[in-house]
Amino acid sequence: MIKPLRKAVLPVAGLGTRFLPATKATAKEMLPVVDKPLIQYAIEEARAAGIEQFCMVTGRGKTALVEHFDIAFELESTLRERGKTEALDVLRALAVPAGSIVTVRQQEPLGLGHAIWCARAFIGEDPFAILLPDDLVLSDTPCLKQLADAYLETGGNVVAVTEVPPDQTNRYGILKVGHDGGRLVEVTGLVEKPAPADAPSNLSIIGRYVLLPGVLRHLARLERGAGNEVQLTDAMARMIGEAPFHGLRFEGRRFDCGDKVGFLEAQIAFALKRPEMAPAVRAFLKSYV
Ligand code: G1P
Repeated sequence: MIKPLRKAVLPVAGLGTRFLPATKATAKEMLPVVDKPLIQYAIEEARAAGIEQFCMVTGRGKTALVEHFDIAFELESTLRERGKTEALDVLRALAVPAGSIVTVRQQEPLGLGHAIWCARAFIGEDPFAILLPDDLVLSDTPCLKQLADAYLETGGNVVAVTEVPPDQTNRYGILKVGHDGGRLVEVTGLVEKPAPADAPSNLSIIGRYVLLPGVLRHLARLERGAGNEVQLTDAMARMIGEAPFHGLRFEGRRFDCGDKVGFLEAQIAFALKRPEMAPAVRAFLKSYV
């Protein structure tokens, strides 16, 4: 029997050093693309995929992430008094059911694998999704929904993948590919950030995963890998053969918002999707290029 997917883990303990000074006193996941913080895109995408329970793996200075999903009572009553119904609707759309978000702390930055391991009590014996809020996906069907459907189809682990230029394999988790069905590819191996010469392919993992809880057994070894960090990719590699493992070439476009240029590109792409802004944005872009 395939267990339903209801849980998601969002690792948000990162220091955001690439965005200093913007991230000195605020969480990088609170940086907005157009008018919505990255964390909200991730939670909305997860909810659209049927996720009901969220675990943010946080660290110091990340309280704004939790506050963001709270009810801002004073703000709402002021808006109501002033008849600002549009702004109220924006806040209302943010509401998540009471008790659906929990947090755990990752006290030390020991890697993505360690962050997921910190959520072990939340995960328990259930399949779970992982969303890295830095990766933003613009698509017709939310990326995690595409993965959730692939999970129901295969009953195993599924990661979202995309081709990257061969000289960029050292930035990502890279797949070794067995049978390639076009949309779904069989994963026969995984390597974290291989040098181009050692990369088994140029199919890279983006920050969307659906994993079986068995990955926790491998994470529990807390073995260090690339960059001397506990790598999720290494633990996933150990699951190959235990259950089906696929990469999904998702429909959509991914923006690496952990990178300044990627973040800027996301602003433009998402603004151009907004009918009220698109003409003005298109017009000013023309004046620059
Ligand atoms: C992490 C993962 C990597 C994955 C990437 C996607 O790397 O370790 O396998 O390809 O996210 O964004 P990070 O970006 O944290 O270095």
